[in-house]
Amino acid sequence: MPITLLFVCLGNICRSPVAEGAFRHLVKERELDSFFAIDSCGTSNYHIGERADSRSRSVAARYGIQLDSRARQWQQQDLQRFHYVFAMDQNNYRELLSQAATKEEREKIGIYRSFDPLVNSHSQPPDMPDPYYGGIDGFVEVQEIALRTSHNLLNWLLTRHNIPVQRQ
Ligand code: 4NP
Repeated sequence: MPITLLFVCLGNICRSPVAEGAFRHLVKERELDSFFAIDSCGTSNYHIGERADSRSRSVAARYGIQLDSRARQWQQQDLQRFHYVFAMDQNNYRELLSQAATKEEREKIGIYRSFDPLVNSHSQPPDMPDPYYGGIDGFVEVQEIALRTSHNLLNWLLTRHNIPVQRQ
């Protein structure tokens, strides 16, 4: 049975599709596709059915990553359907936590950038910066954060689930 991961932001068009795309890309590169099922969603209903923001898609393409997501809204059942849920920022995190009914559900929810290798693990993990109202530089920053964070997250999951692979 695959390990199921869900990346969550507000609109599901800028940040979580990039986190999802980076994780998917790294998994494919290491031929680990069969071990993971990956998805993303947004806590809001603002952009349901839309493709990822064209700026997210064009920056991802520079890194050889194609973003195919369609925005969907978070549902409470996601806490049963997924093993791990990663919030892009504190607002999403609090929103998801408020919907967790059991300790088991609460323990599934984490903050994505707690896996950012450039962040001091003793401090509160920073938000993935929201690039929506800014320029293309913000989208590049999101992409760079997503690649290093998803890389670290993947290695953590491989260790945690005893998946035998070469460390990268
Ligand atoms: P995301 O970015 O949560 O990373 O997809 C946003 C997308 C849309 C809006 C805000 C943030 N919005 O206000 O419509």
